[in-house]
Amino acid sequence: MTDTSLQRTRHLLLGLTGGVAAYKAAELARLLIHDGVDVQAVMTQSACHFVGTATLQALTGKPVFTELWDASIANSMAHIDLSRNVDAILVAPASADFIAKLANGLADDLLSTLCLARDCPLLIAPAMNRQMWENPATQRNLATLRQDNVTILGPASGAQACGETGMGRMLEARELAETLHSFFQPRLLQGKRVLITAGPTYEAIDAVRGITNLSSGKMGYAIARAALEAGAEVILISGPVCLDAPPAAKVTRVTSAQDMLGAVENEISGVDIFISVAAVADYRAKSTSKQKTKKTSNSITLELIPNPDILEYAAGLADPPFCVGFAAETENLEENAEIKRCKKKLPLLAANLVQETIGSEDCTLTLFDGAGRHHLPRAQKIEQARRLIKHISLLQEKQKA
Ligand code: C5P
Repeated sequence: MTDTSLQRTRHLLLGLTGGVAAYKAAELARLLIHDGVDVQAVMTQSACHFVGTATLQALTGKPVFTELWDASIANSMAHIDLSRNVDAILVAPASADFIAKLANGLADDLLSTLCLARDCPLLIAPAMNRQMWENPATQRNLATLRQDNVTILGPASGAQACGETGMGRMLEARELAETLHSFFQPRLLQGKRVLITAGPTYEAIDAVRGITNLSSGKMGYAIARAALEAGAEVILISGPVCLDAPPAAKVTRVTSAQDMLGAVENEISGVDIFISVAAVADYRAKSTSKQKTKKTSNSITLELIPNPDILEYAAGLADPPFCVGFAAETENLEENAEIKRCKKKLPLLAANLVQETIGSEDCTLTLFDGAGRHHLPRAQKIEQARRLIKHISLLQEKQKA
C-alpha cells in the first residue's frame, strides 16, 4: 500500500517586519498551522505597530519573540537557537528597509540576526509602496539577495494601502502557504528528466469541426507541478487546455495525436520517466477538409482511422523510460485498468472513474503495478500527483535494489 500519510512535520520560522501586509501574515500563520506546519513567529519592533504579538501567539500556540536580548532564552543565544531546527525562514512581509539590511548582512535586531545566523533556506515576501519597490536601491538589494540564494516570493501588482496602484503588494496568504507547501516537498526526483503528456487531443474533420475527448488537463498539469517540486526537469506536452503551465516546465503545445506523438519522439531521448496523462483521441478522420463542409439534408458517413498509441510507442522502445499510464473508465475499473497495464507493458498505471474526475479539482485514484493495486483516497489533484510521484520514486528505488 502506498504511504499516503502526511510527511514529517515541517518547522518554519515566520518573520514579520513593519508593513500593513503584516495582517496577511497572521492569516498565513493560521493556514500553515492548519496544514500541519510548526510555526515560530518572530517580529521586529516595526511589525508590532501593525499587528500584535498576542495575535501571532494565539494563532501559532507559541510565544512570539521580538527582542535580541530575551532573558527567557536559557543561554541568551536566541539568534542561534531559534534559527536551528527549522526547515526554512520566511520573512513576510519583508519591508524595503529589512531587505536592505539582509542584502548588506546587517544584524541589529533579533530577526535580522536570525537571518544572518541561519543554516536553512531563506524566503522573503516583499511588501512596500510601488516607488520603494521600483527604487534602484531596492532592486540592487534584491539582485544581491537572489545571488545569495534567497528566494523572493512576489510581490504582486495592485491597489496599495497608500492609495497608489502598482507593484509591491505582498502575495496573498493562500499563495504563500501553497508556495511553502511546494517548497517543503521532498526532492524525490532530483536529477530526473520527466516527460508528461496532458489534456485532450483535437482531430480536425474540417475547418471548424473535429473530434476530441473530454479532458481539462488538470491532472497532467498537477503532475507536472509535483514533478517540479520533487526536483525533476519537466517537459510538458499539452493538448488544447485553458490552464497556465508551471513556469519552470518546458512546454510544447500540440493539437492532434500525431502532433503529440511527434513532440514525444522529439523529447523522449534521455527521459527517465514518461507519464502519459493525455486523453488521446483513439481515432481521426481518414480525410479532412481545409474548408467548412456545407450542410445538406443528407446523412453523411465519416470514416475514422486509428491514431498511433503514444504510450505503447514509448513503452516499446529498446531502452524505454519508466512508463506510467492513465486510464479513465466508466465501468469495470479494476479489470480494464489491469488489462491496459499488461497490454501496454507498463510498470504502473493510474486509473479512476470518468464520472468522478473530469474537470473536478479532486479525485480518487487507484494505482496498479506489479505488486497489485493501491487505493489513493479522494484528495486535491495536486495532492494525488504528489502521492503518484512518491509511488513512482518508490518503484524506481525497488527496481534499482
Ligand atoms: O485511451 P486509453 O484508455 O487506452 O489510454 C490509456 C493510456 O494510454 C493513457 O495513459 C493515454 O495517455 C495513453 N494513450 C496514448 N495514445 C493513445 C491512446 C492512449 O498515449 N492513442
